[in-house]
Amino acid sequence: MEPQNKNSRPQRFPQRLKIGGCDAGELAETHGTPLICYDEAIIRDNCKRYIASFARNGNRVAYAGKAFLCLAMCQIVAEEGLYLDVVSGGELYTALQAGFPAEKIYFHGNNKSRDELTMAVTAGVGCIVVDNTYEYQNLREVARASRSLQPASILLRVAVGVDAATHPYVMTGHFESKFGLSLGSQELDSLVADALNEPSLTLMGFHSHIGSQITDSRSFTQAVDALFAGVRRYLTLYQWSPPELNLGGGLGVPYTADDKQISIEEHCALLLNTAQRHMDDLNFTSRLTVEPGRSIVGPAGTTLYRVGAIKRTPNGRCFVNVDGGMADNPRVALYQAKYTCSVADRLDQPGSFTYTVAGKACESGDILIWDHPLPEVQSGDILAVNTTGAYTYSMASNYNRLPRPAVVLAKDGEAKLIIARETYSDLTRLDRPK
Ligand SMILES: Cc1ncc(COP(=O)(O)O)c(C=O)c1O
Repeated sequence: MEPQNKNSRPQRFPQRLKIGGCDAGELAETHGTPLICYDEAIIRDNCKRYIASFARNGNRVAYAGKAFLCLAMCQIVAEEGLYLDVVSGGELYTALQAGFPAEKIYFHGNNKSRDELTMAVTAGVGCIVVDNTYEYQNLREVARASRSLQPASILLRVAVGVDAATHPYVMTGHFESKFGLSLGSQELDSLVADALNEPSLTLMGFHSHIGSQITDSRSFTQAVDALFAGVRRYLTLYQWSPPELNLGGGLGVPYTADDKQISIEEHCALLLNTAQRHMDDLNFTSRLTVEPGRSIVGPAGTTLYRVGAIKRTPNGRCFVNVDGGMADNPRVALYQAKYTCSVADRLDQPGSFTYTVAGKACESGDILIWDHPLPEVQSGDILAVNTTGAYTYSMASNYNRLPRPAVVLAKDGEAKLIIARETYSDLTRLDRPK
């Protein structure tokens, strides 16, 4: 045994970031950077919390794949017993390739092509959420022409006329929105009447989604109230009550300490209680569905970048340049989104310096975080940007011909590659010489 010096202080080791029990620095060494790392336990826990708080009495939870979708994510969603919301032929293809049950899929989108509608009907997708009259007419033709013995189940997407408290780019339920048919409009009345009499279609009810990253519960209450005002209208007009009402997604997550937070449990209770009050009042029962995306995967993701050049401006601003940016996370450039970050191997050190984290794209707007406190940063450090699980990889581009990052799923100290890093040859794969 080594002799102990009784006077020496206990040695302090720098605190290092762990994701799903894996050391973030080691993940970066093994898989390279930028690297999107998901903590699988957080994703699964969020799925379970939604199921426990909402999926009673036939109510459903559908994960909104637009937040992040790949084969592994579809598998997790299926294993946790959620339904899946897809929004394009590509997302539908991914789900089917993963073996996700077609009958548990909701197919969204404000401009589905005829090919996409045919693909959905042929695959036996559980529910097509019809956005507008043009799509309705196309789908009716596709459904009539299909050999399927079963009519295609549909929901009609409605704009409930609520200006949700969120960024204007992710508001979707106002009357000026590009999405859905306005509640109270004659256009919607005619579609309801037509669909109720159309043998190739089964009208299951309505779908309403008012936007994303919403942390003010009043927006959700207003939306449910408005939706039930619409339901009342069709009870009166056609003596028809919808078997299903899909209340959409939209629950926000805290990105910084200033952001408000509504828990999954509070959110589900609010939706269920508000809807139940209306159903009691109108004396009918409908299946309710929610479609969360961000609140399932957002907090589970962390992006690791390697710091390159560090630049100090004459006015004293200090930029740390990282090896990714708006190509793998366009949310800051699109929505002025705010993030927090840390130096992965010095979590215990105080943020005594102020840095602006800059991406590597040729755009002055490619800044990931403005003026963030960090310990002294050096080139080569691994910088971890928090809460990047939603609308990052799924929105990533190859701007500047930057290959899209790899994605790993970490659990109990083991990390599995679930999306490989793009290579330079991937970038020219579809190019053809002239
Ligand atoms: C129709 C629909 N449902 C669900 C969602 C998921 O929203 P969020 O990720 O905010 O929960 C979206 C995203 O905007 C959507 O458009």
